[in-house]
Amino acid sequence: MAGNGTQSYGVRDKLEAAAPLTPPPPGKEVLIKIRELHKRFGSRHILRGINMDVYKGETLVILGGSGSGKTTLIRHLMGMLRSDEGAVTVGDLNLNKATPAEMETYRKRMGVVFQGAALLNSLTVLENVGLPLVEVDHKPAAEVRTRVIESLRKVYLPAEEILDLKPASLSGGMRKRVGIARAIIQEPEIILYDEPTTGLDPVTVNGVNELTLELQKTLGVTSLVITHDLHAANMIADRIAMLYLGRIIAVGTKEEIAANQHPVLQQLLTGSTHGPLTEAYLQPKKGA
Ligand SMILES: Nc1ncnc2c1ncn2[C@@H]1O[C@H](COP(=O)(O)OP(=O)(O)OP(=O)(O)O)[C@@H](O)[C@H]1O
Ligand SMILES: [Mg+2]
Repeated sequence: MAGNGTQSYGVRDKLEAAAPLTPPPPGKEVLIKIRELHKRFGSRHILRGINMDVYKGETLVILGGSGSGKTTLIRHLMGMLRSDEGAVTVGDLNLNKATPAEMETYRKRMGVVFQGAALLNSLTVLENVGLPLVEVDHKPAAEVRTRVIESLRKVYLPAEEILDLKPASLSGGMRKRVGIARAIIQEPEIILYDEPTTGLDPVTVNGVNELTLELQKTLGVTSLVITHDLHAANMIADRIAMLYLGRIIAVGTKEEIAANQHPVLQQLLTGSTHGPLTEAYLQPKKGA
């Protein structure tokens, strides 16, 4: 694995080098395949050749500094952004080539927990959480209500009390949990979490982590979780990937990541403010 051992990482290019892709271990099947993914916004080259596999049924945690491109990467998986180069394939579906009908079917297989809760302010909690069931599945109102209540309880919310409230009447942490309840209501096969626990109290953080584990165990969900929380990463991850300057510079099991001597990972794991992680975003890069 890239970064292991005692190599010197004095040269910037070495710091930014992508970790080599390794074949899946026996018994693992690749569900999401990302190859040479590039994304530019104007002259800014944000994703610079992402190569990554997500195995069916695993929880893969993506770590990375603020602005490293984590949300941008997840938006490609949601089909909200198209890559400039490279491909994202989920099962047999190449997202760059999918028809609108194929994308609609694909989106039903997927739940998304957005970085902000992304609730609609004019709708009640019941309407927000039930939205996928009403708009996409056209379920009757009584069933929607029952399933919304179930979903809210899974994220430790007092369902009946808040059903008719608007998001503005909830606390930030409650809004976040309502967002999670909406993401899981269709029992998706894939869940994308963009910082699901940021801003929550420690008990709820554990609750959300336990929920991720439970969904994986009971429904065999494949999860991609973006987080800054190393404790959460260690609790839920089967594997951890590190995104740095638009590339995956390390990926492996928790043990492999903990033993990895890459300076970027070392800085992240020790929480130091000095090192390549913080410096990378302060210096303009030639050709970036
Ligand atoms: N739609 C857009 N238009 C222009 N630039 C964008 C757009 N979306 C993201 N960017 C830029 O891409 C870079 C990566 O943004 P992104 O939101 O992916 O970061 P992130 O890793 O999720 O950060 P954070 O941890 O702060 O959420 C940022 O510099 C951002 O300004
Ligand atoms: Mg983000």
